[in-house]
Amino acid sequence: MTAAPFPAAPVGDAPVGTGPSPSSIPTGGTDTGGVHADHDRLRRVRALAAEVLADAPAHQRELFDVRLSKWWPDLWEGLAELYPAAAAEDLGHRLVTLAATSFAGRDSELHHLDLVRTLSPDWFQSQSMLGYAAYAERFAGDLAGVAGTIDYLHELGVTYLHLMPLLTPREGDSDGGYAVADYRSVRADLGTTEDLRALATALRHAGISLVLDLVLNHVAREHEWAVKARQGDPKYRAYFHVFADRDEVDAFEATLPEVFPDFAPGNFTWDDDLQGWVWTTFNQFQWDVNWGNPDVLFEYAGIVLFLANLGVEVLRMDAIAFMWKRLDTNSQNQPEVHAIARTLRALARIACPALAFKAEAIVAPADLVQYLGQGRHYGKVSDIAYHNSLMVQIWSMLAAGDVRLAVEALRGLPPVPPTTSWVTYVRCHDDIGWAIDDTDAWRSGLNGWEHRKFLSDFFSGEYPGTPARGLVFQSNPATGDRRISGTTASLTGLEAALAAGDGSAVDTAIARISLTYALIMGWGGIPVIWSGDELAQLNDPAWDTEPGHGADNRWAHRPRLDWALAERRHEPYSIQQRVFDALAHLQRVRSEQPQFHASVPARITDVADPAVLPVLREHPLGPLLGLYNVSDSWRAYPWQSLAALGLESGVDRVSGDRLTYGDDGNLWLPPYGFRWITAG
Ligand code: GLC
Repeated sequence: MTAAPFPAAPVGDAPVGTGPSPSSIPTGGTDTGGVHADHDRLRRVRALAAEVLADAPAHQRELFDVRLSKWWPDLWEGLAELYPAAAAEDLGHRLVTLAATSFAGRDSELHHLDLVRTLSPDWFQSQSMLGYAAYAERFAGDLAGVAGTIDYLHELGVTYLHLMPLLTPREGDSDGGYAVADYRSVRADLGTTEDLRALATALRHAGISLVLDLVLNHVAREHEWAVKARQGDPKYRAYFHVFADRDEVDAFEATLPEVFPDFAPGNFTWDDDLQGWVWTTFNQFQWDVNWGNPDVLFEYAGIVLFLANLGVEVLRMDAIAFMWKRLDTNSQNQPEVHAIARTLRALARIACPALAFKAEAIVAPADLVQYLGQGRHYGKVSDIAYHNSLMVQIWSMLAAGDVRLAVEALRGLPPVPPTTSWVTYVRCHDDIGWAIDDTDAWRSGLNGWEHRKFLSDFFSGEYPGTPARGLVFQSNPATGDRRISGTTASLTGLEAALAAGDGSAVDTAIARISLTYALIMGWGGIPVIWSGDELAQLNDPAWDTEPGHGADNRWAHRPRLDWALAERRHEPYSIQQRVFDALAHLQRVRSEQPQFHASVPARITDVADPAVLPVLREHPLGPLLGLYNVSDSWRAYPWQSLAALGLESGVDRVSGDRLTYGDDGNLWLPPYGFRWITAG
């Protein structure tokens, strides 16, 4: 079929349709640098895309050309930061060809979604977004089973479903699927790629975006690239960081922390086949890939577009902080990781703009905000990032019954771009590590080391009188770190209360669960419920009985969803009914308040009581003040502070009641109580 003539998008600001046709543009061009070189480069890639799309309908060729013209500069700047000019140029051409090919193969429903999302680029910032995260098999058996849970997810108000790694992993221990052996097929016991496409489609029709992991720091030792490297293919050996010499390894080790000091000490693994040490930040079977090699970026670009064309709407960039290595550093948060994110993001904006990126960077507060784009990467990297700092502070506030450290830490975070969003979460499939800054601790009158120790003692159940029943994960005697595993219910005291048969302690634990979820729903962003928390599921006592799980107690908080327990959500006054309905109710309320849109900053205002966290969200439609009592006693918030915001005769949106005051003029909050107050 011959394509109709199509009006090419111009380079620069001229109106669409008046520019030169890409195919009439000479593809040679001397690279003199500066604006002319930029124009030449853009002309060349537009011509390239026009060739690839020669048989596509005119409107599609125009659309691709407009997007390429808009986003190529971002893509190029990312590449130019990562690679020498010639390699960057060559890779740029390969990526544009790839993007155009993938665009041509994208199905019409997804093209339509691209259009819709381009018109509402804030879709993932909406206050109606609510996330749910689960392992497909532990939640619903397989992919078809997941499709059968849509009504359940709707009951909670879920609009975003993160299914834990489900691409084909290595056999045996695969770190919960984070050791991928093949990115282009689905784990056989879960279904096929066509089942994945069908699930993504069913979810989308139900208003739920599918979120999948993109494990891009490492592959399984059994992945084809690693197999070929082990067979001696130099092309693939160069996909990894391999050192023949132990001295080189030791030079890196001198400044590297250990992620799994218990079961995978060190950061390198000797491999007989390679006759060398290969970089393995995580487990010995997870080989870190070398992003300094442009071929690696090209491979992952293909995987990104493949997943996007299956209908995945958000990619979680796993362990993104570790992707670039540099001697004499901890090889985390290097500037190049942002250039990589920028490149992949720009590529997706050209080929499949419905796709959003989420950074999984569990790093110190100061490094965290970089992942949403600061400085020259402003607005150009991930759209979404995990608010690890908020998560840590929630647990710290609960243990201490005091908000002052949280106030220091959260106030100290630089502003994030208004086009981005946090994922807020109480806990996830990973352990909780005490990412608390010593200076923040000192400013709030604490010693950082002692406070971290206190938190580990408190949540592992060792601290006298603590209601928490967590497990210590990766105790590191060298640093004193002891991370914590546990479900929300077990960490907030429900397990201990049930064991003691103490009804009032059960009530307190439920109040704490509701408070933690109110905090993440009230902060702004996408709050994510970890599967089972909505039913107050406890730690799985048999967590170590499945093959490959024995050494990793994170499986204690990844229980299979107990569907018998889920039925109890319909039984009035059952624990499940109280927790499930509390979460669903909070989301219903939240979705009606525009102040919760992620573009509205959360600001900690007047701290009148060290046990009450006041979070203000100022919106042109009026302010919303969240008040959270993190202690086990009644606490007051002064009328004057509410009056200063014009909220003294406001309404608490959670209960629907107008505010009433004690005789002393204070608004009183019960133990672990909270309010979302608007003017009414
Ligand atoms: C991320 C995952 C974690 C995994 C690690 C290595 O941090 O959340 O579960 O162990 O990456 O892939």
